[in-house]
Amino acid sequence: MTQRPLALVTGASSGIGAVFSRKLAERGYDLLLVARDGERLATLASELATFGAGATAVSADLTTDEGLAIAEHAMRAAGRLDLLVNNAGFGTTGSFAATPLAQQDAMLRLHVTAVNRLTHAALQLMKPVRRGGIITVSSVASFVNSAGNVNYCATKAWQRSFSEGLSLELEPLGIRVQALCPGFTHTEFHQRMAFDQKKSAPPWMWLDAATVVETSLRQYENGGPVICIPGAQYRILVFLARHIPLWIKRRLSQRVYTRE
Ligand SMILES: NC(=O)c1ccc[n+]([C@@H]2O[C@H](COP(=O)([O-])OP(=O)(O)OC[C@H]3O[C@@H](n4cnc5c(N)ncnc54)[C@H](OP(=O)(O)O)[C@@H]3O)[C@@H](O)[C@H]2O)c1
Repeated sequence: MTQRPLALVTGASSGIGAVFSRKLAERGYDLLLVARDGERLATLASELATFGAGATAVSADLTTDEGLAIAEHAMRAAGRLDLLVNNAGFGTTGSFAATPLAQQDAMLRLHVTAVNRLTHAALQLMKPVRRGGIITVSSVASFVNSAGNVNYCATKAWQRSFSEGLSLELEPLGIRVQALCPGFTHTEFHQRMAFDQKKSAPPWMWLDAATVVETSLRQYENGGPVICIPGAQYRILVFLARHIPLWIKRRLSQRVYTRE
């Protein structure tokens, strides 16, 4: 009997990560489900068993060294990995100086250090067999800077740049890399930030997580480009963001996002 492929998804307990886990299980993957909330992961693992997937809940806080060691150990113990989905993330509200430093530091650890360490660990398993893939959930925020979102934009830009650079090294080995850059997506992300969804963006800007993940997986499976931007409206906005003069972008961002 052929072995099922194995994927590790971080932030699998809700939103985009939970949808990735379900869609990968439907596609025949076994899963390592990583997040802090072990109970939610265990419930998801039982649900995925209905697709015949072997799913293991790995409870870990990826902002800590201990949590990262737990996730790395889960990978090494499996001894193989076909896909890593670096998805865990969060946002903050308020200016850099007005938010607690610990929160800003946790964002750097989750969006940068965790992605760096888990990707490195994954590649130790993928490179010898010259097979596998890394999808990192960045954001359209990676293409802009915005007042009130300083480190969010900066860390998402790091994820995108990291993925683009990594693809240059890994493409010749047959290992695929994608930076998924969604816009506003209905998940728990904005609730956790106590951010009013209705006021934050007009309805045409909202995507559903199933569309975001399906677009990502199709592009990944078809060997598409490194950057994946779900939704025509966001492909147009990113094009504009890359081409309008910097001083207009600065004015807009300060007017739209500054809340203090
Ligand atoms: N929703 C959007 O509008 C949007 C747009 C662009 C990009 N994104 C990106 O999409 C990714 C997924 O977010 P989402 O929208 O699906 O939000 P979500 O529903 O809030 O999910 C976030 C996930 O990350 C996990 N997580 C948070 N902190 C963690 C930590 N310290 N250690 C381990 N896991 C942690 C959460 O699980 P636990 O609480 O159980 O740990 C949860 O599973 C993020 O990287 C986000 O930046 C979202």
